Amino acid sequence: MCGIVGYLGNKKAYPILLDGLLKLEYRGYDSAGISTIENNHISILKDKGRVNNLASLPDINKLSGTIGIAHTRWATHGKPSRENSHPHMDNSNTFSVVHNGIIENYQELKNFLMSNGYHFISDTDTEVIPNLIHYYYEIDKSNNNRFLHAVSSAIKNLKGSYAIEVICKLHPDTMIVARKDSPLVIGKGNHENFVCSDIPAILSYTKSFYLLNDGDIAELFVDNINFYNDSLEPISKELKNIDWDTSAAEKDGYDDYMLKEIHEQPKAIRETMGSRLKANEPCNFDDLSLTEEYLKSINKIYIVACGTAMHAGLATKPIFEKLCNIPVFVDIASEFRYRNPIIDKNTLCIFISQSGETADTIAALKLSKAMKAKTLAITNVIASSITREADYTIYTHAGPEIAVASTKAYTSQVTLLSILAIYFAETLKVDKEEIIFSLKNDILQLPQKIESILKNVNTIKEFAHQICTEHDIFFLGRGTDYSVAMEGSLKLKEISYIHSEAYAGGELKHGPIALIENGITVIGIITDANLVEKSISNIQEVITRGAKTFIVTNQDLGNHTFNEVVRIPDINPLISPVLSIIPLQLLSYYISKAKELDVDKPRNLAKSVTVE
Ligand code: AGP
Repeated sequence: MCGIVGYLGNKKAYPILLDGLLKLEYRGYDSAGISTIENNHISILKDKGRVNNLASLPDINKLSGTIGIAHTRWATHGKPSRENSHPHMDNSNTFSVVHNGIIENYQELKNFLMSNGYHFISDTDTEVIPNLIHYYYEIDKSNNNRFLHAVSSAIKNLKGSYAIEVICKLHPDTMIVARKDSPLVIGKGNHENFVCSDIPAILSYTKSFYLLNDGDIAELFVDNINFYNDSLEPISKELKNIDWDTSAAEKDGYDDYMLKEIHEQPKAIRETMGSRLKANEPCNFDDLSLTEEYLKSINKIYIVACGTAMHAGLATKPIFEKLCNIPVFVDIASEFRYRNPIIDKNTLCIFISQSGETADTIAALKLSKAMKAKTLAITNVIASSITREADYTIYTHAGPEIAVASTKAYTSQVTLLSILAIYFAETLKVDKEEIIFSLKNDILQLPQKIESILKNVNTIKEFAHQICTEHDIFFLGRGTDYSVAMEGSLKLKEISYIHSEAYAGGELKHGPIALIENGITVIGIITDANLVEKSISNIQEVITRGAKTFIVTNQDLGNHTFNEVVRIPDINPLISPVLSIIPLQLLSYYISKAKELDVDKPRNLAKSVTVE
């Protein structure tokens, strides 16, 4: 969940490292630090707080080294403090390390090192790594590449996940990096090399990247990089070009990334549709090679993910079931992985992850593969870890999503899954041409319809100001509107810190209505003509008990006394989540702004949850 950056070249390292850290801050922001080498000495500057705090430390300009490593932290072991911030050094101040991930056996390693005379300054799991490297460096004196061998021997002892960068004052022209179950890429420049946990950090310096696989180690010099596998055998790597637009990772005039990303949704969805969807042609997923015979052989589909990505699964379960007649189960990855799910070769498991790095989702995928199910990953990040594990990968192409609260990733996931459901139905030759034709047209119109919602935000803004001081808010919906209620509620919690709950309308009288009292806010989503009367009855029931109501709808609701109604364009309820979530994203955003909170970096959260 932390962000790491590294640089070696001919320029001063620290400004490049700070710039990279600022772009990675969404991965964690409770402390930050930098190490550089100057005159065979490692300098460290680190502190709790955000990257700007680090940048304002008086000694920052003294870091003159041209090789350096940097870290922005999301605390796992040890509270945010200077001692617990990265980089960490070994006891002899020879090695400096930044680490993303969790070392599960750190206590055992700490005991071993302490019995060999080492002592520890921090409460972190990471501090064992530089000391372990030092331990192997000292016992392997005859080796002619001691630094590389010491790192390799040290990481062989680590259980858990890691992406590490290591520098050594005795090898001032070398950086060693390694990864297992945590993201790490190397950017190749002109007489300079970069390392980062996430491509946007260095996109303004290079678009050429080497992607490391689990177990890989790289030894970097200014003009050369050597790659090794986990047995230290040399391996070759292909240089990949990532053609993301640099401005995609900048705010581009918006106050916050979240607002920018909300407004990018029409474009993101156009990119997601790409060449896959045309009104009068079968959907195109040539890259999948899932045959009619295979699709006929599957007896269930599992969609597994976390958070918002899981809500995208819930939103699209109905379209798969309606079009393909295959039962779909949607599960939370952290539950699925420990539950002995009943899956086999006749199960298709779909894993959704914007980042492609979510630890639980990847573990669930590995489990499914081991149980012989076919695995399909849906992700936004090219060559992310999940793509290296799945049998098939399809990309949402929504562009980088920086704000911690996911917006455009959700709508492009729902769009892509809906197109996939249509593709499955076409491959299975189901006799549903009429609905398929109309759904395709509806999906093709999504971008314009989102644009029209984004033009009318005043009602949402005003309501946000009315309710921004509340403590409890309820969301109600039925069918796909219920899945949107869950996503709307998650968005609100994440960035406004207001407690909220989402309920299926029909569940109201089974308990939650006891919570409704005078003045409480209830947000209703009503987009399905077949359920409109039932949903209105639920809303009436809460109005009778004094609730204030905010309704997102495309239905004719007749004469009722709702406090605010936001109308969205008409659309088939099977894909209405792509539209009905937009006012709820905006509502959360404006509440967060009204409370003067940090919209992009909400407390306690990080963008990618790369640890359990
Ligand atoms: C969304 O707003 C959240 N920040 C979070 O729930 C997120 O969707 C979840 O952590 C899954 O992330 P992923 O899509 O990168 O796997």
